[in-house]
Amino acid sequence: MRFTVAIDGPAAAGKGTISRAVADRFGFAHLDTGALYRAVGVKGGDPVAAARGLTPEDLARDDLRTLEAGQAASRVAVIPEVRQALLDFQRAFARREGGAVLDGRDIGTVICPEAEVKLFVTASPEVRAHRRWLEVGGDEARVLAEVRERDARDMNRADAPLKPAADAVVLDTSEMTIDEAVAAAVRHIETLRG
Ligand code: DC
Repeated sequence: MRFTVAIDGPAAAGKGTISRAVADRFGFAHLDTGALYRAVGVKGGDPVAAARGLTPEDLARDDLRTLEAGQAASRVAVIPEVRQALLDFQRAFARREGGAVLDGRDIGTVICPEAEVKLFVTASPEVRAHRRWLEVGGDEARVLAEVRERDARDMNRADAPLKPAADAVVLDTSEMTIDEAVAAAVRHIETLRG
């Protein structure tokens, strides 16, 4: 059985939490594609070479979730050769036997336009910054500035910009708890899965 759930959206909208819950609920494999770009961003050196030579160790680093890694990821993600180097791995993952959930920015638009389910998970920049700040601490105004900067770069790049696929269902989690957002995503997938 091949069944792909594409979950796209901006930073800290809840994609990761929803994706993990959906993968658990349906027994699908989960790929956090942001981690690929984060690993390339923190590796240093030539990003194209880093993307082509990405190893499991690179993906297991414990500094991938920092704000700095997010910014570094967003910067290397504008490079078409970096995106190209990560494409085949993501496509193969999406069509693996047993079902897959991928979360990122371009899963429904570029990586897997034929995905059976496409969700675009979003929330206001203030709500997203607040959630990220609860995780990382520090100065909340700085976290908001970083969220806005990353949104602008991810949405305005020429190659695979962040935007909802034409056939994506938009889930705005600004006013939802995590449980409500997960429940909404699960209901939507259940209707499409039959
Ligand atoms: O989802 P995240 O915050 O871990 O993603 C980090 C950065 O990686 C994001 O700002 C842009 C880039 N990215 C991307 O360009 N395409 C993806 N499919 C996933 C992430």
